[in-house]
Amino acid sequence: MRALDISVVGATGAVGTALIKLLEKSEIAINRLQLFSSGSGARQFKFRDQTYLVEALRDIGDIADTKTDIAFFCAGDDVSAKWGAPFASQGTLVIDNSNSFRMNPDVPLIVPQVNACSLTVRPPSRIVANPDCSTIQLVRALKPLIATFDIHQIILTTYQAASGMGLLGCKELLNGAQAVIEGSAGPPAERFPVPLAFNVIPQIGEISREGVAIEERKLVQESRKIFGMPHLQLTATCVRVPVKTGHSEAVYVEFDDHVRLEQVRELLANEPGVRLYADEIRDGYPTPRCLGDPADVHVGQVRVNPENPRGLWMWVVADNLQVGAALNALLIAQLAIANNLIGET
Ligand SMILES: NC(=O)c1ccc[n+]([C@@H]2O[C@H](COP(=O)([O-])OP(=O)(O)OC[C@H]3O[C@@H](n4cnc5c(N)ncnc54)[C@H](OP(=O)(O)O)[C@@H]3O)[C@@H](O)[C@H]2O)c1
Repeated sequence: MRALDISVVGATGAVGTALIKLLEKSEIAINRLQLFSSGSGARQFKFRDQTYLVEALRDIGDIADTKTDIAFFCAGDDVSAKWGAPFASQGTLVIDNSNSFRMNPDVPLIVPQVNACSLTVRPPSRIVANPDCSTIQLVRALKPLIATFDIHQIILTTYQAASGMGLLGCKELLNGAQAVIEGSAGPPAERFPVPLAFNVIPQIGEISREGVAIEERKLVQESRKIFGMPHLQLTATCVRVPVKTGHSEAVYVEFDDHVRLEQVRELLANEPGVRLYADEIRDGYPTPRCLGDPADVHVGQVRVNPENPRGLWMWVVADNLQVGAALNALLIAQLAIANNLIGET
């Protein structure tokens, strides 16, 4: 494969910087790298022995100047909605981290370990969507169970980190914690509905008239699309917690039939990219602050409900910036390259 021209929109954010580090270490040969941000301050990155200046996206004069082989969008819904299609119209494959295109039928929603089969041909939109961070770790843990058993329903609660709201979310948590420790009320909440430091918030995104928050709706719709199961019964409560990075999920899966714990453990242990903490006493359990390999989905506390032999609990933890965003985007790019979906032909 020839060396590729690549651009990253949102290069200075939490996901963008994680992606640039992963790209640098990857085996993708890069001819030209273009980095974009809002332009709020001059920034530069060292990348494979070269220095790149970050450009302001708004300064692009001619859309033809954006033509690259792959453009990673990590700058939020509004930026993707405005610039995603114009980039794609230049023949660029857009890999989008935002919520703007995920449910568009012309846009594949891809977790390469789960539904690589949905990205074998060039999408007509030339856009591929990265699912929401909480969806990616959920579907990666559920995949071997859904492939083996009939599922009655899935009920989960998420415990989502501040970095899910980007660099400013992290900053707000750290400043708020510092202020509370020093005895003041702290700054008012901006990125979160109420202050997050020393708190938990049972709301992520706007709440609909039916009482469902956007993040909860995304988990349901995106999981159904990824598994190709429009009737999958899934319901969630999404909670923001004062953790810097790493989302956790308490997942209850109810099967149609009785389930054997040993079989579930074997399936999870054999699933590539899933690290199973098989024995709580010997292995402990994953926690976001002390997570091992950030490329893995960590699963512990796997147990059958003693009151219902069809029910199973598991505790699923992953790095939201890596598994939940940057790494998944990079794996999509590698899959598209392997499937010859890059370039004009
Ligand atoms: N954080 C996560 O865990 C996570 C997980 C999955 C998906 N995502 C999605 O990934 C995207 C980025 O999230 P993030 O957490 O990295 O956010 P972030 O830390 O706030 O970074 C936002 C990035 O977008 C840039 N930007 C803002 N407005 C722009 C504009 N008008 N034109 C060009 N660039 C602009 C910012 O540039 P400046 O530095 O100049 O402001 C910054 O580089 C979002 O769509 C988010 O929903 C995030």
